[in-house]
Amino acid sequence: MLSQLLPIIFFLFFSFFFLLNAKPTTSSPISPSPPPSNNTQFILTSCSSTLYPDLCSSSLLHYADAVSSDPARLARVSIAVSLSRARRTAAYVSGLSRQADYGSDQRASSALHDCFTNFGDAVDAMRGSLKQMRQLGTTGESFRFSMSNVQTWMSAALTDEESCTDGFEDVAEGRVKKEVSEKAEAVKMVTSNALALVNRFVNTVASGTQ
Ligand SMILES: *[C@@H]1O[C@H](CO)[C@@H](O)[C@H](O)[C@H]1NC(C)=O
Repeated sequence: MLSQLLPIIFFLFFSFFFLLNAKPTTSSPISPSPPPSNNTQFILTSCSSTLYPDLCSSSLLHYADAVSSDPARLARVSIAVSLSRARRTAAYVSGLSRQADYGSDQRASSALHDCFTNFGDAVDAMRGSLKQMRQLGTTGESFRFSMSNVQTWMSAALTDEESCTDGFEDVAEGRVKKEVSEKAEAVKMVTSNALALVNRFVNTVASGTQ
């Protein structure tokens, strides 16, 4: 019985797909009306308002489906990415400051120690931001309060990361200074982008376009 039905089922199944596929081929690939339904395009457009759009899209594009064109989710994911980079940098700096050969250079070792503290502070600020984003208030007032905290803490995180680089100003040029400055700079760019996406989200809600 089933074996007799199978060819018919297959026929119906494939005709259905054929019909489904037949329609979209009529629309041109260069459609003049792009709806905001494309998750990839949403990330690219949002990233274009950041200071480092290429870095922004390269670090966030693989979350396109999870973000699903939701500016709140995008802000959350970008904070999470920045947090994870800051954590990694803190661990790296901590490893460097434990290395005995830099113990002899007082300035370098004190700058490393301060940098570790700066990155620890940045991590705390971003962890708090992420927690706040996960429990956003639903009323206008509690939402604004939560989001102004997130904006404040993300700016603080950026300042903390800047302090690390500043702390190396008086340290003689060398491998440690170069590597730490480069890593701190890279995290700073990611954090700056996250702050921009947080601001973009706040503006989206404020202007009622969400
Ligand atoms: C989504 O947008 C990207 C970038 O503009 C484009 O390359 C891609 O083809 C689009 N996908 C769909 C399904 O429209």
